[in-house]
Amino acid sequence: MANAIRFYETGGPEVLRYEQVAVGEPGPGQVRLRHAAVGLNYADTYFRNGTYPIPMPNGLGVEAAGVVEAVGEGVTNVDVGDRVTYTGFINTLGAYSTERLIPAAPLIRLPDSISCETAAAMTMRGLTSAYLMRRIHAFKPGDSILLHAAAGGVGLIVAQWAKLLGLTVIGTVSSGAKAELARAHGCDFTIDYSREDVATRVRALTGGAGVDVVFDSVGKNTFLGSLDSLKRRGLMVCVGTASGPIDGFNPQLLAMKGSLYLTRPALADYIADPAEKEALAGELFDHVASGRIKIEVNQKYELQDAAQAHRDLESRQTTGSSVFII
Ligand SMILES: NC(=O)c1ccc[n+]([C@@H]2O[C@H](COP(=O)([O-])OP(=O)(O)OC[C@H]3O[C@@H](n4cnc5c(N)ncnc54)[C@H](OP(=O)(O)O)[C@@H]3O)[C@@H](O)[C@H]2O)c1
Repeated sequence: MANAIRFYETGGPEVLRYEQVAVGEPGPGQVRLRHAAVGLNYADTYFRNGTYPIPMPNGLGVEAAGVVEAVGEGVTNVDVGDRVTYTGFINTLGAYSTERLIPAAPLIRLPDSISCETAAAMTMRGLTSAYLMRRIHAFKPGDSILLHAAAGGVGLIVAQWAKLLGLTVIGTVSSGAKAELARAHGCDFTIDYSREDVATRVRALTGGAGVDVVFDSVGKNTFLGSLDSLKRRGLMVCVGTASGPIDGFNPQLLAMKGSLYLTRPALADYIADPAEKEALAGELFDHVASGRIKIEVNQKYELQDAAQAHRDLESRQTTGSSVFII
């Protein structure tokens, strides 16, 4: 038997239950994986509260790292004993568990230089940072970005990666301590968006021009300020909606604010091609193994404390990445 978090109805963190589950043997194309560490991502809260609808009851979590214990028929990309990591969407749901069956396709073999704990802290957030930095826009040194939630899991990785590309990084944060952390990870400037008007500060910091690209993972509360922070023909990247979804958007607004571009990308579409996933993972692993990008695992929990972990994440208590240690 394995232990797992399951939920029977959508709602607040209290719906999460810690249970014993039978795992069984892998079928064709599947592996049985023993987890060493499991990633806690903001997307997990969207599944839990019903923002991303899924059938009930269900497991939770889309990212973990561990060791392959058994492989089913036709599996060729991993072997028994391999250390692997994975992330995904509905295809990997059920990561909040000590052991599980999973399709082999999302699994990525880990180099010796990357621990399972680091992998669980960065497979989702690091691959997201990789496509945001390497696929969304053809950045040149000297370009400027506005990065919301700069002290968060995705934020700290993007900030470091952006500096490797020679970008000017303006990060938003909600406290002085988070501002310090964001600056220590590459932000040239920080704005406390709980107290300051973001677009006004961005205009002041960029000589009135605005930034080339905004990475907005906050959504509802920051959307309009983000558009107002962009240069003419700048790019607005809606990365996520930590403060709630953006409703009632009229595309005419993009014309009125300077012929802006807008995209709402999802990691799944940037790692669907195995060769592209391998290339992005290779770049990420290389930066992390060499120390150019540091993965900050600032919160560690036991699996049975999943509800508390969700409360901490949603009440903005966390910085960097959070993981469950199995
Ligand atoms: N599109 C994709 O492919 C993709 C992939 C992975 C993640 N994401 C998105 O990226 C974002 C970051 O994910 P993460 O797991 O690294 O989380 P995170 O950034 O570590 O945590 C969320 C942060 O958002 C900020 N925030 C602002 N307003 C908030 C509010 N009303 N409620 C809660 N938090 C608020 C908080 O930072 P402050 O206190 O500093 O404001 C908080 O720490 C999420 O929106 C997630 O959905 C998108």
